[in-house]
Amino acid sequence: MPEAVGFEGVKDCSSLQEFSVSNSASFWAAAARHRLSWIKPFHTVQDCDLSLGRIKWFEGGQLNVSVNCLDRHVDTCPERVALIWERDEPGSEIKVTYRQLLEMTCRLGNLLRRHGVKKGDCVTIYMPPCPLAVASMLACARIGAAHNVVFAGFSAEALAERIRDAQSSTVITVNQGVRAGKVTELKRTVDAAVKDCPSVQQVLVAMRTENPVTMTAKDMDMEEEMLKEDVVCEPEAMDSEDVLFLLYTSGSTGKPKGVVHTQAGYLLYAALTHRYVFSYQDGDVFGCVADIGWITGHSYSVYGPLANGGTTVLFESTPIYPDPGRYWEMVQRLKINQFYGAPTAIRLLLKYGDQWVQKYDRSTLKTLGSVGEPINTEAWEWYHRVVGDGRCPVVDTWWQTETGGICITPRPSDPEIVPGMAMRPFFGIKPGKVVTSNPASGALCLAQPWPGMARTIHNNHQRFIETYCQPYPGYFFTGDGAYRSKEGYYQITGRLDDVINVSGHRIGTAEIEDVVNQCSAVAESAVIGYSHDIKGQGVYTFVVLKKDADDQEADLSQQLNNMVSKNIAKYACPDFIQFVQRLPKTRSGKIMRRVLRKVVERDLDGLGDLSTLDDPAAVQEIIQGHRELCGKQQPS
Ligand code: WTA
Repeated sequence: MPEAVGFEGVKDCSSLQEFSVSNSASFWAAAARHRLSWIKPFHTVQDCDLSLGRIKWFEGGQLNVSVNCLDRHVDTCPERVALIWERDEPGSEIKVTYRQLLEMTCRLGNLLRRHGVKKGDCVTIYMPPCPLAVASMLACARIGAAHNVVFAGFSAEALAERIRDAQSSTVITVNQGVRAGKVTELKRTVDAAVKDCPSVQQVLVAMRTENPVTMTAKDMDMEEEMLKEDVVCEPEAMDSEDVLFLLYTSGSTGKPKGVVHTQAGYLLYAALTHRYVFSYQDGDVFGCVADIGWITGHSYSVYGPLANGGTTVLFESTPIYPDPGRYWEMVQRLKINQFYGAPTAIRLLLKYGDQWVQKYDRSTLKTLGSVGEPINTEAWEWYHRVVGDGRCPVVDTWWQTETGGICITPRPSDPEIVPGMAMRPFFGIKPGKVVTSNPASGALCLAQPWPGMARTIHNNHQRFIETYCQPYPGYFFTGDGAYRSKEGYYQITGRLDDVINVSGHRIGTAEIEDVVNQCSAVAESAVIGYSHDIKGQGVYTFVVLKKDADDQEADLSQQLNNMVSKNIAKYACPDFIQFVQRLPKTRSGKIMRRVLRKVVERDLDGLGDLSTLDDPAAVQEIIQGHRELCGKQQPS
């Protein structure tokens, strides 16, 4: 790290990590000056008080994120490829240079401005990964609007809820999506969502396919309108702490929350982690296969690589389309140097066998990354041994929507990386709480602020404070549990709250219960996660029907599945629905989820003390019902 030359006593990676934590302000000030282009320099590095939920970085400074991601690279290397759009059909990729991406962004920025979008507004983007989606994000940043990207797998209801909460007047979408050879009617989903969103005045529609779609009075053809715009768009000077984007994510209770990230700190953190966690070098091709609708897509398909002047892949397809060799055929064709994916996909591909990997030349690969959920040892070893031919370090990166970027991860240069361990805190990150001895396990808290962390929850700062700052005053509470080995390495043990992780997608069990409970035949329900050998976790739903419910259970199961898919997304649908007479509850009426989890995990010895239950017989009935539903096999 070039700026480390000025840090006293820093001679290697470990001492740099120590310096970054104990001299946090000097570390981040140097990094921010060195790595970002400022319109006006900052006067205060940080002004934070975690216990009050006050987090401010680089105050006094002004910059524009799109200028940092585009203009400064256009000045030095306009013809460098910024984006490789890996479209669904293999071999049909499209490359976009920095000059072209700047032009697209400027036209779009002008278009948005002409249609009244101003600094401080929030634009909702409902698009699959594609250059126009990236240009939309950057165009918002250019004119000072916040963006709210909604994963294009979410249903109309889920989209509407997010548009309403963000109060967007503008939505950007595509006519249709294309994934695994199938066409999805994204514009139709937007039409359905917008009906329930009085704030929406206009919808910009880009054409992903050639099929025309019905246009309403609010809709405009985005590409046609862009052609009318100038290719120069004056960037807005933004304060470091102005909002860059909202991104909705699930919590343990209530509605999804709009996590807020701001300009300078987020961008710096995304850029620095992208550079050092993956050993990204100029000229490398970075392949993050996450969707732009998740934080991984934001930080490592878009902002981190572009801030670093890198070449980044936008992956539109799936790991098994047209066959299970897709990723590795792509690695060969695009000469990808860093591959960043999710354990769920690795587990799936592992089952198809090594031949799908070995068919292709993977010699360009240098670093392999894993994100989103714990990676089990078998998957880690296969990734390392087969995909990376035993020569590429595998970095198991732990972080969350709220942290903005990777927080705990092995360093690629580490001589020893333990499979399935996130290992070490990144620069500026200090995990830990009261417990200082090793080994130890407990709630994973971060003991000091860092520039990439979320600032608040949109329209609900109180919820931000209660969720992250109050559980352990003075610390940022992540919601995860962790184990620290005697060597001081971290291993993430999973969520401590009622959030589950299905194929790397985060979902609150309460969100699914809310939908299930809307069914007129349902009296109450309890949703829990169980370990699933591909998805990581599956969704298991216990349902108590109303006394007078007379539908057949099979029909009801189908109905409940449809409801979840319509109200949330397909990935949240229950794998199992077990109808029960009653749920195990404490005498005060709280559902004993711990007991349900043990039943589903078949750990009957671990049921523990049931004497506090209101009706211990309920458990026997549930065990019996579970056996009948799942037979002798593990649920899958
Ligand atoms: C989980 C995704 C174990 C964790 C970037 C976290 C992980 C949640 C890992 C955040 C990992 C993420 N090992 N668990 N390497 N990475 N998680 O907000 O429970 O979609 O709290 O961000 O995923 O999910 P999110």
